[in-house]
Amino acid sequence: MALRMFKFCTVLRSLPMRRQRQCFSGPLSILAKRKFSSETRSLQSFDEMIDMRRGQAQRSVLVQVYSGNSYSDLSELCHEFGKVRETFYYTTNEELHFMLVEFESKESARKMMDSATFGQQMPAVPCVTPFLWMRANNIKKAGKGTLCPCPEAVSDSEAKPEEILHQMRSAQSISQQISVLRNLTKMADVGTRLRFLTARQLEMSLSGAFPLIKALPFGSSVNGFGKAGCDLDLVLQLGGLEEGQEIKSQGSRLVYHGKNNQSCNGRALVQRHMEVIADFIQHMLPGFSKIQRILHARVPIIKFRHDLTMVECDLSMTNMTALYMSELLYLMGEIDSRVRPLVCFVRKWAQSNGLTNQTPGRWISNFSLTLLTIFYLQKKMVLPSLGTLIHLAGPNDKRMTADGINCTFLRDLSNLSISKNEETLAELLTGFFDFYAGFDFASKGLSLVSGKEMPKPEHCPLYIENPMERYLNVSKNVSPEETVRLQVELRNSSWLLEQIQDEEQNGRESQNWGVLKLLLKSDTSGFKVPKPKTFRLVQVKDLFSEQENGFSQPRPFLRDVNKSKPKRR
Ligand code: GTP
Ligand code: MG
Repeated sequence: MALRMFKFCTVLRSLPMRRQRQCFSGPLSILAKRKFSSETRSLQSFDEMIDMRRGQAQRSVLVQVYSGNSYSDLSELCHEFGKVRETFYYTTNEELHFMLVEFESKESARKMMDSATFGQQMPAVPCVTPFLWMRANNIKKAGKGTLCPCPEAVSDSEAKPEEILHQMRSAQSISQQISVLRNLTKMADVGTRLRFLTARQLEMSLSGAFPLIKALPFGSSVNGFGKAGCDLDLVLQLGGLEEGQEIKSQGSRLVYHGKNNQSCNGRALVQRHMEVIADFIQHMLPGFSKIQRILHARVPIIKFRHDLTMVECDLSMTNMTALYMSELLYLMGEIDSRVRPLVCFVRKWAQSNGLTNQTPGRWISNFSLTLLTIFYLQKKMVLPSLGTLIHLAGPNDKRMTADGINCTFLRDLSNLSISKNEETLAELLTGFFDFYAGFDFASKGLSLVSGKEMPKPEHCPLYIENPMERYLNVSKNVSPEETVRLQVELRNSSWLLEQIQDEEQNGRESQNWGVLKLLLKSDTSGFKVPKPKTFRLVQVKDLFSEQENGFSQPRPFLRDVNKSKPKRR
């Protein structure tokens, strides 16, 4: 303990006085009544946003076309079925061209699907979904129709690295650099539409047998932290009912027969259902490929790709807490406009420094990094603790999952006070690195429920209490050496930011100024793109043991934290 305290003090002594105060002083501001600003929040609750997006998907079809020149032709065709609200010309990296058409009514979309015919290529199973392709029109109707200009092509990928670099170089301040990064990398409207349409396809194709089915997106596709091209996390409910909700009998004397699976129940039954769904997606449903069944995980999932929307999907069938977790993160992002740019930067920083990887493994996940940032913002009183949101919850906020997990917290943000903390993004980012550079990860865990540090209830290198299921550690997968790497990089960046701020006062020396220095290669020719280190990679199936995603045999430390303390330049 004494040694740990010494290490902590050594780090602190080397920080300027202002930043030492930040590390110790804790919350500096109190909460006051929040004023709404259309810039910072949509005033749309999570449930309203989900309903709006699901409605949009029900009114939409995705039509593959030869090129943007097909727009006039398709517009003319669409008008036969009803009024079109909006059309997006969407292209993929593989040079496929699509028109995403949203009608005014879902009946029009349905009429358009019903008018389509089945392809000739056998042995494709005839299947009605909102994914269509348009044949070339060989019979030209002379004089009919006017040529409409095609909308500008949109894609679900983030801006090119050169463009991000250029705009970050041209920003006026460090805070603006952070905002620019967020704006150029966040998921666009079309990305959200494509994800909800993918969910709609699954729902539609199974709804004949299961009319109450719901495929609900969660995770970064809906929590407001999503990057362009991020994965689609889905929970499929065959019953389609809210937890605890009962089917209304509607007074009918007739009742459907149902399948009683007496031979297996609970988890085993979910696994059997998922096997069937995985087979169906793999062999029957157009557009889906690369199906992987990971059914022995704590939360069984099916992974696959959609070749038309280019979305990677993780489908589960028993993950209601993750839906409420997404709602909580959505609310945290809505409460203060600085939250999402800051989280976006922290994720980019972690990726650039090789701390995260697309494949899940022994390293910290984007989800844990998000919680780490939210915890820091709670300490700064920018965000309330979950405990506060629970305390302010009203009767309409009550939510309980089938397995008894209480997910009740305030949903209506108009009842919430506004933070008096007016620090800029640059100040908050500096504070973030300082705070965690000196954080005692060895003995303390993070609780977003209290918004305070907590003693670790179990031995593990990094402990972030799961806000919904409080006996679980969200970062249980993180190994000792990855925790050390995280600490080293946090300290490096804390030092570098100090240098960057000095430079800001004394005049910039290069075009790669400000926080770009935290993201660029040492020769500053572009963003760092760490190669995946194969020795750090593990097989996906090995990650999902029955005992959560922990690793029972942690490897020894690669290097001592103290030995890797950076030299001051
Ligand atoms: P990206 O996909 O990396 O953009 O972020 P994400 O937030 O979508 O993360 P991910 O796809 O890994 O997980 C999807 C959702 O599952 C998260 O938003 C969480 O709600 C939940 N989740 C992810 N990891 C964990 C975990 O370790 N424990 C728990 N309880 N939930 C998790
Ligand atoms: Mg995700």
